[in-house]
Amino acid sequence: SSPSASAAVEAAPPGFFLERVLTVHHWTDRLFSFTCTRSPQFRFVAGQFAMIGLMVEGNPLVRAYSLVSAPWEEHLEFLSIKVQDGPLTSRLQHIVPGDGVLIGRKATGTLVTENLLPGGTLWFFATGTGLAPFLSLIREPETYDRFDRVVVVHTVRQVAELAYRETISKDLPEHELLGDLVRGKLLYYPSVTREDFPNQGRVTTLVESGRLFADLGLSTLSPDRDRAMLCGSEAMNADMRVILEARGFTEGANNRPATYVVEKAFVTK
Ligand code: A2P
Repeated sequence: SSPSASAAVEAAPPGFFLERVLTVHHWTDRLFSFTCTRSPQFRFVAGQFAMIGLMVEGNPLVRAYSLVSAPWEEHLEFLSIKVQDGPLTSRLQHIVPGDGVLIGRKATGTLVTENLLPGGTLWFFATGTGLAPFLSLIREPETYDRFDRVVVVHTVRQVAELAYRETISKDLPEHELLGDLVRGKLLYYPSVTREDFPNQGRVTTLVESGRLFADLGLSTLSPDRDRAMLCGSEAMNADMRVILEARGFTEGANNRPATYVVEKAFVTK
């Protein structure tokens, strides 16, 4: 039988909260998301990540996961790949409601709006599970206070991997509290690389060809007007970094705001 997470966590080791899984959603055989309870003491800023995982043979086995949920939400939400021989995700993919999960007490990370200088359009460039931090940011009203326009660009291999597509394009614009902010400001550009889809190709290609800007009716990227956050595979981050820096963007960090920031989509096993 498959390894079960159920009895794996009985008490939280130092530095962690013990939370309970509430819902699990399997997007594909490579991708799932789940929600869990949230300790009132757990604080984070949209775009940050925390260490999360399971007790395995008496020890915490944890990886960095971006928060999908917004800071104002009652529950926590995470998006994960599934790797059959991955030390954590081979186990985590089997969680069911009621199971215990460990959540590190301290959230951190560079993909926070505070690390960007004020600007007009905020671009989120994600591949795969790199979408996660941007799901939190697009549900955070402050994002819309700081920027006139927010664009989510998400590239995946297959259409089914466009996780949260309905959330972004439908639920959020209809949300009773956020809808008004989102409808006027949020644009969504999904692209697919290995199946037929209206927007095809890697984000890097779409930027360099200008197709992305033509499709959205926006000007090409400029540090005078645009800000960017990158979250994807190392290769995507590296290639987009080169593209941005060639256009005059400079990298920001905590306490040193600039015109773009970057973070790896961490969990690969
Ligand atoms: P491709 O199908 O052309 O490799 P993965 O599932 O491997 O993490 O990839 C997620 C998405 O990121 C895929 O659509 C993949 O495109 C794309 N990708 C991979 N490497 C790069 C890169 N260097 N620049 C832009 N996109 C990339």
